[in-house]
Amino acid sequence: MKITKICCIGAGYVGGPTMAIIAQKCPHIQVTVVDLNRERIAAWNDADTVNIPIYEPGLSAVVAEARGRNLFFSTDVAKAIDEAQMIFISVNTPTKTYGSGKGMAADLKYIELCARQIAAIAKDNKIVVEKSTLPVRTAEALKSILDETGNGVQFQILSNPEFLAEGTAVDDLLAPDRVLIGGDSSAAGEQAVQALVDIYANWVPLDRILRTNLWSSELSKLTANAFLAQRISSINALSELCEVTGAAINEVAKAIGMDSRIGPKFLNASVGFGGSCFQKDILNLVYIAKSYGLTAVADYWEQVIILNDHQKRRFSNTIVKTLYNTVSDKKIAFLGWAFKKDTNDTRESAAIYVADDLLNEQAQLAIFDPKVSRNKMLADLDYLATRSSKDNAKNATSFDEPYSACENAHAIAVLTEWEEFRAYDWQRIYDKMQKPAFVFDGRNLLDRAALEAIGFVYFAIGS
Ligand code: NAD
Ligand code: UGA
Repeated sequence: MKITKICCIGAGYVGGPTMAIIAQKCPHIQVTVVDLNRERIAAWNDADTVNIPIYEPGLSAVVAEARGRNLFFSTDVAKAIDEAQMIFISVNTPTKTYGSGKGMAADLKYIELCARQIAAIAKDNKIVVEKSTLPVRTAEALKSILDETGNGVQFQILSNPEFLAEGTAVDDLLAPDRVLIGGDSSAAGEQAVQALVDIYANWVPLDRILRTNLWSSELSKLTANAFLAQRISSINALSELCEVTGAAINEVAKAIGMDSRIGPKFLNASVGFGGSCFQKDILNLVYIAKSYGLTAVADYWEQVIILNDHQKRRFSNTIVKTLYNTVSDKKIAFLGWAFKKDTNDTRESAAIYVADDLLNEQAQLAIFDPKVSRNKMLADLDYLATRSSKDNAKNATSFDEPYSACENAHAIAVLTEWEEFRAYDWQRIYDKMQKPAFVFDGRNLLDRAALEAIGFVYFAIGS
């Protein structure tokens, strides 16, 4: 089956970049990305592609090349479903905030809504692709909803989870380590898998395209994230041990990472991992294990989250303890709010939790992030519902540039590893701060020797 029209439901951090690259690499395929969020679609259609809603290095140029040619963004979900031969579901699957499984299970209501809408609209056979990260065996539920249409339409369901990381989405999509496609082993299932392989084969070498059964594909995505997050919790656990023993975490990470069986990547100790997926996906994995009665398995993976929460709390405690056990009415400057560099995404960012702790201690926060707006920062704090929006707005101020954020501050906390922070005029910052001037580097980003030479008291994670 030759695919000429694709639709993607969900124009978020995955749907937008993924479809932009497919459109760029497959000019013969018309790609329409739809979303219920009108503002988001309007931003994707902004005349100046610099204003697209997602900041990713290189993405605006890809959108500029393909948009209007074979890449379209629209709110007309029904029309796009009707026209497409292949439909990607790329909607959000957050942790449930209500009912059974609250705080653990994935909330699949958006996925189910998509399935119902596809079932209601489809008049001809379609391939439905799970792009969202889903609990193992979700395809079964999707199929049962789709098969209830009663109008004789045949659906094939594929699992094609996405492995891109934010901040490097374009590079990850252009040269993926692997593309994973799970499908049914029937003849029709294999044809559907082949149709998707043919799309990726336009730019991905065939030996990087992996075919599995549906359940292996769904489960591999959840567990890939769990393994990655586990590395960070492992190194962060050691960072605390380094602090009390005189070992230096950077040296330990280098020494263990040079073992080719371990590898050097993803071993940076930090204030804790953030982002929309690691915590959500591990909680989901824990929930799945529990629901099969596998308590030991559930407890094993839950520890990755427990350690991460501990690491965030430990960082704010260190700040309070070092500042003579009180930060009340002290100005603390935050450099960074996004959950990692090169993204404007703040979901589950460690900065939010550190800020919340320090606001509880009555600190005055002065926040600067190169890509995050004040409204977003306040919305993140308000979402925790620890105190009133008015109090958040009064005690957390955002700045357009770093130097005024740091002026008169007692301490600076580095929460995101933006490269530009290294290049600041640290002498100028030091001159305008309260003394002693403290830097708490939650990303081990800055040059300790240079900062100490200026006169800063410098704390890094794990040394
Ligand atoms: P997102 O919140 O940025 O985007 C989801 C979009 O779907 C939103 O714009 C929302 O309005 C839209 N939507 C929800 N229900 C809809 C419906 N019924 N019809 C039309 N639009 C609808 O989420 P995201 O970060 O892109 O993540 C999407 C999925 O991909 C999740 O399952 C996530 O776990 C997975 N994933 C995310 C990443 C990442 O780096 N963000 C990477 C790999 C996988
Ligand atoms: C992660 C995975 O890396 C992707 O493969 C996956 O597709 C995605 O989740 C997903 O399913 O959403 P992402 O969350 O975008 O991608 O970003 P990462 O680069 O994994 O970083 C996650 C968090 O870990 C960040 O807060 C980052 O600062 C932190 N981190 C990362 C560390 O603290 N130390 C490290 O060594 C690496």
